[in-house]
Amino acid sequence: MKKNILITGGAGFIGSHTYIALVAAGYVPIILDNFCNSNPIVLERLERISHLQLKFIKGDIRDSKLLGKIFLDYNISSVIHFAGLKSVGESVEKPLEYYDNNIIGTLNLLMAMRSANIQTLVFSSSATVYGNPVSAPISENFARCATNPYGRSKLIIENILEDVYQSEPGWNIACLRYFNPVGAHRSGLIGEDPLGIPNNLMPYIAQVAIGRRDHLNVFGGDYPTHDGTGVRDFIHVMDLAEGHVAALEYLYSKRGMLTVNLGTGHGVSVLQMIQAFEQASGMKVSYKIVNRRPGDVAECWADTTLAEQKMGWVARRSLQEICEDAWRWQSNNPNGFNS
Ligand code: NAD
Ligand code: UD1
Repeated sequence: MKKNILITGGAGFIGSHTYIALVAAGYVPIILDNFCNSNPIVLERLERISHLQLKFIKGDIRDSKLLGKIFLDYNISSVIHFAGLKSVGESVEKPLEYYDNNIIGTLNLLMAMRSANIQTLVFSSSATVYGNPVSAPISENFARCATNPYGRSKLIIENILEDVYQSEPGWNIACLRYFNPVGAHRSGLIGEDPLGIPNNLMPYIAQVAIGRRDHLNVFGGDYPTHDGTGVRDFIHVMDLAEGHVAALEYLYSKRGMLTVNLGTGHGVSVLQMIQAFEQASGMKVSYKIVNRRPGDVAECWADTTLAEQKMGWVARRSLQEICEDAWRWQSNNPNGFNS
């Protein structure tokens, strides 16, 4: 029988792509989202891609009663937990909102899961838990440290999950540390749709290419990297989505607790990304090199050996595919879901 999976935050960027990967793998995903950072139109798009009627509940993970009812009504077998706030800068301005949503929300979810006897959880962690890593590639045993409230919320949740796993038999938990998720589903129907001015590189580049922004500011040209610009591990969001399916399958078959990096294992610089995007889109991406952004590190890319060993998962899609898919999404939807 097909397993029902609750995806909290499933209307967001990574959750919506994971919905598609779960359907393709034969699961029945059920989305819970309060739309605080997403657009309801994504639900229609998911139905168009999957040719299935979508199961959706509008609500908040901090609503215990609602969670209890969902677990009762839907015979949920496991939870993939994406719901949370994710902007580093905003977290510095509004730490209480971040701790409330991310930490209280997760505690509430865990308590509701315990009451319903659901003990399988996949959690969205982040490479941000490595703080300022001493070198790259970064493996899972590197020291963890938080440099802002967002990162601290991920670190605290990882610690809570380790404690819960130790405290009660039967829990199966995967903490997935994402590097830089980018790109879009190849249909061009769903993708990343940040509100306001994008903080992250890829949506900014795409908006320059489509003419919504004049030029990209490249933050720092004097890093000790091969071309002086920052180096990151950009992973196609569908590869990342499939990593969640691999993690679920690991938990169902091997059980236990698993903490793994989800990245490609390759670093790409900001200038390389601009060039790849220009090639894929045929558009010019104007840029200016400006001062470094405070808090940025020179290089951050993953050692992906453990994910391959444990789950048999590797990222398959190329940088060119990332840029082509991102451009298809951006050019078909110049103003995101509200185009
Ligand atoms: P997103 O903002 O697009 O998606 C999060 C979704 O959760 C949104 O649809 C939002 O409306 C919903 N949500 C937030 N708080 C909620 C609540 N209290 N109740 C119900 N729904 C709620 O973000 P994303 O990029 O898809 O990220 C998903 C997860 O992955 C987040 O936890 C984020 O911290 C983590 N992560 C993201 C990245 C990245 O680069 N995008 C990197 C590392 C980790
Ligand atoms: C950022 C977050 C990180 C989070 C990740 C999720 C910060 C400091 N870090 O990571 O916690 O997990 O997003 O995606 O916010 N760049 C420019 N110009 C821009 C935007 C970015 O040059 O307009 C550069 C940055 O300096 C960096 C690279 O592009 O070298 C990638 O930046 P970004 O996409 O913001 O991701 P991270 O900083 O790696």
